[in-house]
Amino acid sequence: MLGFIAVLLACPPSVRAEDGYKLWLRYAPLAPSLAATYRAQFGAVEAPTETATQRAARDELLRGLAGLIGESPRRGEGAPTVVLGTPASSTLIAAFRDELDALGNEGYLLKHTRVHGRDVLLIAAPQDVGVLYGVFDLLRRLQTGQSLEALEVREKPRIRLRVLDHWDNLDGHVERGYAGRSLWDWQTLPEWHDPRYTDYARANASLGINGTVLNNVNANARSLAPEYLAKAAALADVFRPYGIRVYLSARFSAPIELGGLSTADPLDPAVQRWWQHKVDEIYRFIPDFGGFLVKANSEGQPGPQDYGRTHADGANLLADALAAHGGVVMWRAFVYAHDVPADRASQAYTEFVGLDGAFRPNVIVQVKNGPIDFQPREPFHPLFGAMPRTPLMMEFQITKEYLGFATHLVYLGTLYEEVLQSDTRARGAGSTVARVVDGSLEGHAFTGMAGVANIGNDRTWSGSHFDQANWYAFGRLAWNPDQAARDIAADWVAMTFSPAPEVVRPIVEMMMASREAAVNYMTPLGLHHLMARGHHYGPGPWVEGGPRADWTSVYYHRADRDGIGFDRTASGSNAVAQYAPAVAARYADITQVPESLLLWFHHVPWDHRMASGRSLWDELVARYSQGVQQVQAMRATWADIPTAAPEHQRGRAPLYGADPAAIDPERHAQIAASLQIQRREAQWWRDASIAYFQSLSGRPLPAGEPTPPHPLAWYQAQQFPSAPGDGR
Ligand code: GCU
Repeated sequence: MLGFIAVLLACPPSVRAEDGYKLWLRYAPLAPSLAATYRAQFGAVEAPTETATQRAARDELLRGLAGLIGESPRRGEGAPTVVLGTPASSTLIAAFRDELDALGNEGYLLKHTRVHGRDVLLIAAPQDVGVLYGVFDLLRRLQTGQSLEALEVREKPRIRLRVLDHWDNLDGHVERGYAGRSLWDWQTLPEWHDPRYTDYARANASLGINGTVLNNVNANARSLAPEYLAKAAALADVFRPYGIRVYLSARFSAPIELGGLSTADPLDPAVQRWWQHKVDEIYRFIPDFGGFLVKANSEGQPGPQDYGRTHADGANLLADALAAHGGVVMWRAFVYAHDVPADRASQAYTEFVGLDGAFRPNVIVQVKNGPIDFQPREPFHPLFGAMPRTPLMMEFQITKEYLGFATHLVYLGTLYEEVLQSDTRARGAGSTVARVVDGSLEGHAFTGMAGVANIGNDRTWSGSHFDQANWYAFGRLAWNPDQAARDIAADWVAMTFSPAPEVVRPIVEMMMASREAAVNYMTPLGLHHLMARGHHYGPGPWVEGGPRADWTSVYYHRADRDGIGFDRTASGSNAVAQYAPAVAARYADITQVPESLLLWFHHVPWDHRMASGRSLWDELVARYSQGVQQVQAMRATWADIPTAAPEHQRGRAPLYGADPAAIDPERHAQIAASLQIQRREAQWWRDASIAYFQSLSGRPLPAGEPTPPHPLAWYQAQQFPSAPGDGR
């Protein structure tokens, strides 16, 4: 004990206050009793250091142990030796070859056992990267205070491609980014390798994320020009030891823009040759290049349909060029066209379902979680379960384009979980989206999950401390899509703030309720796409006119004097018919559809009776108010979390780990301020939405509901031309 305290006091004062940079890898000192328990379980570390990945694994373990439990003088005395390695790197681990074989290329084994009379703690894997993942897993157990007694863990990812999509432009602007500018400094690459690139890779590897698409889906062809390939190659070199491959978004018309051809027709032999040469060139720069992500024929992007070809023709063109190198194509199904009058929610399905089975084996179709566009709540996308012969990968949005940007505390783990656990009924009950995405439903080995990154050069990485949790939750679910959002949140809180139950419990509760709060104050009861035009900051339920109907709010809510909601049943767009019959029947029946999706599928009279006994109008108002109250409750919860005394008051380095129930004042204050912003904006959403919908319904507010403080025109007049993250 004394030794431990001495170690703590000897720590040099931290040069920076807690600013969130360390993410969930803070490795802050554990409470003394816990640290002492763990110290007795870690002896000497035996680790190979031949390869960069091996060194990364060893260094991470040493860094984690030093931070969490300190450099113990007792280490090595009687405690199990920690042995890291693969059958190739360690003769001791070679004896476990049979056990390891079942774990695939990325799995690992953690095991406390005896070998030749020695007490050992194994971090073993078939490949180096598995050892790295195993190190992170073990450290997570320490960070969250779990017992290591009788440790025996076998893990392997359920999904093959676990990818972040960066919507980063070459000029550093991040489309829908709320965390500063792009992390990639294209200007100083390839020479300068910002240490931050390594920390980015560490953070991703700690979750098992194994791919990164560097550039925006609204792609600039120049990303494929040699000067940018050299820069991307430098990033790939930094990421490689951490098991992360680099991918690029490809602009379909690049043969014209870069190659000077007159066409990008996928069936034109010159176009095919151009792509083949381009791909061969990319692999000269990046030998383990992952492949392309493509947005085609959507929102003005070029694509195969410009030449009368199909999405399959376009995807296969690129797939053929990549195949010999082992590269893949992630072809997006986020496709809708302004000249198609059909309900936008139905267009991707209509476009793709007939192409089932028409794609090359190295193509995976990337489908957004819902049929519109990352709304606070959507039903699952009807393509999941509808293309059994085609691998489909999930696309979630981690950045909160439609959820209040970085300042609103909205934990997305529950959103992801809700989608993944939705039952498509494609092969009867239990055909969850998770089983479509992990390939088990249809027997696909080629599987993937992408998250649109919320990462920028802000010190917090994600624009706020709590947005880190969404990156974290995405990564954990990409590894295992059946994990519980609550458990993931609990791990994140323990690692990011403190494992003390009096910290973890209230913060997890707050996170778990946070997404529903946002749904309530923005788009309750199945409403969607009511944000302001363009930048999507703040309420805009009145948005109408402009270049296209399906970029307006009135298109989606269809409110008038009599009622509100989008009729997607047989009497309306009939988009509901795109679901399996059992699902469609439930959603189409106004008595069975969950109230959370009521106005997504039905146009409903204002005096429709809700489960609460209220009229729809009264319920809508109540939900808006409830959302504001929920944010108020989050503020109260946060205010009750104790903070440690600031550094200057103690006159020495902060030892937050020594007071595990306290959060450092720096992050505490910043989060309190964010919640204040969120409270103000939730109120704004409520008041503006009620003012607008009341102008249509003509109904009085229920008793006790305050009247919005401004007339509707005031809300409509608010302009935010400089809101961050716009698309351009
Ligand atoms: C949304 C978003 C765009 C983005 C698009 C996409 O519409 O607002 O900025 O380009 O999704 O996913 O392609």
